[in-house]
Amino acid sequence: MIIAPSLLAANFTRLGAEAARASRTGAAWLHLDIMDGHFVPNISFGPAVVKAIRPLTKMTFDVHLMCARPDILLEPFAKAGADRMTIHVELGPQVVPLIWKIRALGRQVGLAINPPTSMSELEPHLERVDSVLIMTVNPGFGGQEFITECLTKIQQAAAWRDQRRLSYRIAVDGGIHNSTAASCAAAGADTFISGTGLFEHKNLTAALAKMRKTVEAAAPK
Ligand code: DX5
Ligand code: ZN
Repeated sequence: MIIAPSLLAANFTRLGAEAARASRTGAAWLHLDIMDGHFVPNISFGPAVVKAIRPLTKMTFDVHLMCARPDILLEPFAKAGADRMTIHVELGPQVVPLIWKIRALGRQVGLAINPPTSMSELEPHLERVDSVLIMTVNPGFGGQEFITECLTKIQQAAAWRDQRRLSYRIAVDGGIHNSTAASCAAAGADTFISGTGLFEHKNLTAALAKMRKTVEAAAPK
């Protein structure tokens, strides 16, 4: 099980200290949300910020590109220190070349799917990716409410993984708090991205440990 704090929910007046605080929790991944104002109606931060916080932690940098033109961003983010990069299946014909490009850059590949998008869009790419990211809110903003209907998508991703003997991770992102994380774990998720659900707690380490315990207890045995 991986619990990945999402820096989007951190205090932006002191991002370096917040990244270091996330690192001290022992979390393996730090989730970095990149929004371009086109693919989603919000703008977050770019490669310069990722580069600035890279020396502060050894965590795997999990870069989530909510961007219409990842083709022009993959290299800058790889150079800035991304270890894995997730693009969106909604990009259609761009998806396969983008996957190749991420591989060519030597980074791990994630493929995200928005709540309204059918799982049939994801299916042709399952063998090409290291993780699928089931969005459990419409992307663009932190602090939104979990969309329960997405649980069936987690079950589908887990069933396909079993049937095809694949090993991609199944990540969830959006509205992940202890109770929703437990439902996702029961449905088959193994990677939990949480912004508000973790950073709202003063003691981030304790919050992360609690979420880990919760999902471990809820996961199918
Ligand atoms: C949403 C982002 C998420 C966001 C989640 O568009 O992709 O990673 O940080 O935030 P919370 O956990 O607050 O819903
Ligand atoms: Zn995200």
